[in-house]
Amino acid sequence: MPTLKQHIVFEVARGLRAFLSLDAGLVRSEAPALERNGKELRRELERLRKQSENKDRRIEQLRGGLSEKNQDIELLRKQVLDKDRELIEFENGIEGGLPIPPLPGIFLVSGSEDVSAFLKSGELHTGLIREILGRNGLDIEDFDSMLDFGCGCGRMVRHWNDLEGPEVHGTDYNPDLVTWCEKNLDFAEFQTNELVGGLDYEDGKFDFVYALSVFTHLTKPQQSFWIEELSRVLRSGGHLFITTHGEFYRKRLSPEEEERFRAGSLVVRAEGSAGENECAAFHPETYVREKLAGNLAVVDLVRGTEESVFAQDAWLLRKP
Ligand SMILES: C[S@@+](CC[C@H](N)C(=O)[O-])C[C@H]1O[C@@H](n2cnc3c(N)ncnc32)[C@H](O)[C@@H]1O
Repeated sequence: MPTLKQHIVFEVARGLRAFLSLDAGLVRSEAPALERNGKELRRELERLRKQSENKDRRIEQLRGGLSEKNQDIELLRKQVLDKDRELIEFENGIEGGLPIPPLPGIFLVSGSEDVSAFLKSGELHTGLIREILGRNGLDIEDFDSMLDFGCGCGRMVRHWNDLEGPEVHGTDYNPDLVTWCEKNLDFAEFQTNELVGGLDYEDGKFDFVYALSVFTHLTKPQQSFWIEELSRVLRSGGHLFITTHGEFYRKRLSPEEEERFRAGSLVVRAEGSAGENECAAFHPETYVREKLAGNLAVVDLVRGTEESVFAQDAWLLRKP
């Protein structure tokens, strides 16, 4: 006779065996269905993968088409602008005006291909020069000789066409722009200079030299060099007009740049592209007065503001 304990162990074992064989039976009976489901899922997965590959291919095709269309639009935009330029040149010619530079030159000096804005801004900026000279008792017509340093494609020079009095000279380090000026603005004389290097003019040749939006694209040593070189070609008592990115441009600076600007330091970005528009210099007022001006006396400053003709600071300096 088994003991009660043996009896209990026996019964538990029997129950367990029955349960396991029941479970295995269940698994066995569901296995084909599960396998079918698995296959279907794999097929569905494969179908979705192919669908997604097709969609990716289509997106790629559309992207290619879009970029081609964008290129077409860009080409058309340039053609329209060029026609606009030709039309303005034609109208200008009828009125006895000067030829209009090609669009790349216009873009280089004014940051846009808008021909009307190019003409208008040149008129406004030569007006600013007349105004700052006038309020300091100077008349441009009284000068014998004047120089546009960094003349570009003659945005300013073209507005001195009817000037009575001074010889007009222009110089720039970009030979293409100078060549265009030489061919099309024959009332003035032009030269090409080096990015850094002496100008081919004798000492004291000019009564007046101006550099609009040029020191804004030079490194600190280049600026010091050019202030000295431009002083050399100025006669004693002659005037230099330059423009700088001043207080008005402070909002464009990064916090770190602004800190240096506030401390009175010159801030120069992209020094590797000196002379080009990517290189941008920002001048605190104290820096111009105490460092950049060197031996030149500060005669006047027209600060750039939201409302002013020109957002840059305009400085009039005099050689002792
Ligand atoms: C923003 S554009 C202004 C052009 C012109 N002053 C105007 O207002 O239309 C700057 C000009 O400075 C010229 N430039 C830059 N560095 C120069 C340098 N070291 N010597 C002469 N010209 C320079 C460039 O070639 C360009 O024509």
